[in-house]
Amino acid sequence: MENKLEGMVIPRHVALILDGNGRWAKKRGLPRTMGHKEGCVTVEKTVEIAARMGIEYLTVYGFSTENWNRSKEEVGALMQLFRYYMVRLLKVAKANNVRVRMIGDRTRFDQDIIDGLNKLEAETAANTGLTFVIAVNYGGRDEITRAVRRLAADCAAGKRSPEQVTEQVVASYLDTADMPDPDLLIRTSGELRLSNYLLWQVAYTEFYVTDCLWPDFDQEELERAIIAYNKRDRRFGGVK
Ligand code: IPE
Ligand code: IPE
Ligand code: MG
Repeated sequence: MENKLEGMVIPRHVALILDGNGRWAKKRGLPRTMGHKEGCVTVEKTVEIAARMGIEYLTVYGFSTENWNRSKEEVGALMQLFRYYMVRLLKVAKANNVRVRMIGDRTRFDQDIIDGLNKLEAETAANTGLTFVIAVNYGGRDEITRAVRRLAADCAAGKRSPEQVTEQVVASYLDTADMPDPDLLIRTSGELRLSNYLLWQVAYTEFYVTDCLWPDFDQEELERAIIAYNKRDRRFGGVK
């Protein structure tokens, strides 16, 4: 098979806003939940594809702190999907040497979901391939707020002095501590906004938006994003 990415730079960290499950379902006259179900299948496939491509970190936005505002039925259906796909994901992760990690505030979930997430992390911690990061009950502002709260507590307890708080120190209090910042952020379904995703981390990330609805996302779409990324002139505020 032809390798379209031959000679290209593979971004080390790809972040994904998987959007459009509802629209995918609506187009087919199906309930939104069916879009989410199909979207989970696409997540599984994308993990395998990213692992094969040699991407080191893949971070997907699964459920935002704002998504609790959806109907009780939809939130309930999403929780059921988490329950089911956490078990499947453990198998996929083990088969592909993938390490799973979660960002966001897991304490708001039911205990069985918290246990499942902990198990996913613990049982894949020693894997050395792709790190698959799931952002659930994640919001950039919430993450920064939780970080500031702990940092303030450490200062009040005399463990740190305010003068010593650098960008590195702030970053070390975030959920993404010890992860590189994303190189490429892909959003499906055409929306041109961040929706509270990785606010601190995407300071110099390249953005790529596709009209493709998340359940339709595939290897070709990911390759297109990486090809576009390779054409970007990354500057980080400097000049070449
Ligand atoms: C993304 O799809 C999945 C989640 C946010 C959980 P949406 O549910 O946002 O789908 P649209 O945007 O309504 O099409
Ligand atoms: C972003 O999608 C959140 C996730 C993909 C989990 P949303 O569909 O919730 O975002 P908005 O409402 O379009 O900004
Ligand atoms: Mg949406």
